[in-house]
Amino acid sequence: MSGIRIAPSVLAADLGRLAEQVAAVEAAGAEWIHVDVMDGHFVPNLSFGPSVVAAVRRSTSCFVDVHLMIDAPERWASAYVDAGADLVSVHAEATPHVHRALAAVREAGAQVGLAVNPLTPLTVLEDAFDELDLAVVMAVDPGFGGQHFLSRALARLERLRELRSVRGVDTLLQVDGGISVKTIGDARRSGADVAVAGSAVFGASDAAAALEELRSAAAA
Ligand code: DX5
Ligand code: ZN
Repeated sequence: MSGIRIAPSVLAADLGRLAEQVAAVEAAGAEWIHVDVMDGHFVPNLSFGPSVVAAVRRSTSCFVDVHLMIDAPERWASAYVDAGADLVSVHAEATPHVHRALAAVREAGAQVGLAVNPLTPLTVLEDAFDELDLAVVMAVDPGFGGQHFLSRALARLERLRELRSVRGVDTLLQVDGGISVKTIGDARRSGADVAVAGSAVFGASDAAAALEELRSAAAA
């Protein structure tokens, strides 16, 4: 089993030191940086827009993974790709036009992700698999960092791993929310290829050391 990729989420970073914090996790071996975009409508919290994605893009050569928690993502996807996202994930619950939203990301020139909330049926991911570079299993209700990991995400990852193999696609599976040294091993064993970690990395006094601890816990 190859190593898990950890995607530190800048939602938990000190935004006054954003470039420095992103550089620290990149130096510690992070390959992805996760940017949580929240609109105060789809989720009850407001975070970043394209300008923060552009700031992250300028500060790193990591793969920039943008998680849109916004209504009608089909309208906004291209702005985030233009800002420098390598991949944009949209939520299946955020639009009746999921296919259009995925196509908008692809047409704008980025890789395509689709995220589902903790109780959204996995059938939407199953049906979309051949359109997706990334399938995102939420292990918390989206909107806030620092929440408790919902263990139902593990069975959902296992199911998706089976469905992926039946479909014969190479879509990566990402788990987002509540990842810590206590949960990352189970998430990895259940099939997560990429784990988002916000508070476990940027909430620690030494983000680089925290990243290394997560990597060891995933491998244990
Ligand atoms: C939650 C976000 C997550 C969040 C994770 O809505 O999608 O990416 O930053 O934060 P932690 O790792 O603290 O649960
Ligand atoms: Zn996220």
